[in-house]
Amino acid sequence: RGELKSDEPLPSENELMKKYNISRGTIREAMRLLIKEGLIKRVRGIGTFVVPPKIEHETNGITSFSRVMLESGIRPSAEVLKLESMAAPFHVAKALLLPVDEEIVLVKRLRFANAERLMIERSYYRKEIGKKLFDEDLTKSIYTMWQTKYHYELTRSEKTLEVKTVLPKDAKLLEIPKNSPVVVLRRLVYFGEEYPIEYAVDTYRSDRTVFKFKTGSAN
Ligand code: GLP
Repeated sequence: RGELKSDEPLPSENELMKKYNISRGTIREAMRLLIKEGLIKRVRGIGTFVVPPKIEHETNGITSFSRVMLESGIRPSAEVLKLESMAAPFHVAKALLLPVDEEIVLVKRLRFANAERLMIERSYYRKEIGKKLFDEDLTKSIYTMWQTKYHYELTRSEKTLEVKTVLPKDAKLLEIPKNSPVVVLRRLVYFGEEYPIEYAVDTYRSDRTVFKFKTGSAN
């Protein structure tokens, strides 16, 4: 019900036994079930905590991670892991309708929701637009920058959502166990032309994200 704060430990077994007048065995079984359901987690040596609710990520339209987080009252932030020109590998060239090895720009960022590592973003841009990123502060919202500074219209996108096993290097970055399931959101974004400008591959922690899809208008 949202009454228990996720940053305060739950009462100890003894306190719960006294409070509810039930046996230690019953308490242990209840805690075991709650852990299994992912509602609480044990932090070794500190105590047992309520797991905070998952972050709801709106995936309709051409959402900006920053905007979606801010609308949920969550502070978005980004740590830039890589910004470089590179030869387009096959899967990127194919998505951006470019010849293999054509020069493109990759920006790779670790995205935070408040202080929590939530997602690794790999965005591949056609060079004519991607090269502008070298003059920008990429810890801020890139989509806001495209729209307010360059007045690009992000007109159309195609997306896929896929469940995968996290890559070892991504597991380290996201601080999740090896072989954890992750949700990979791929997105092609058009900036008004009939060909795509950005191909993005976002790897989300599946233990902390719920994806929201809305179709049609409210009324
Ligand atoms: C990339 C990411 C998207 C993100 C977008 C803008 O395209 N793949 O997930 O929404 O950047 O994010 P922001 O405006 O927060 O920088």
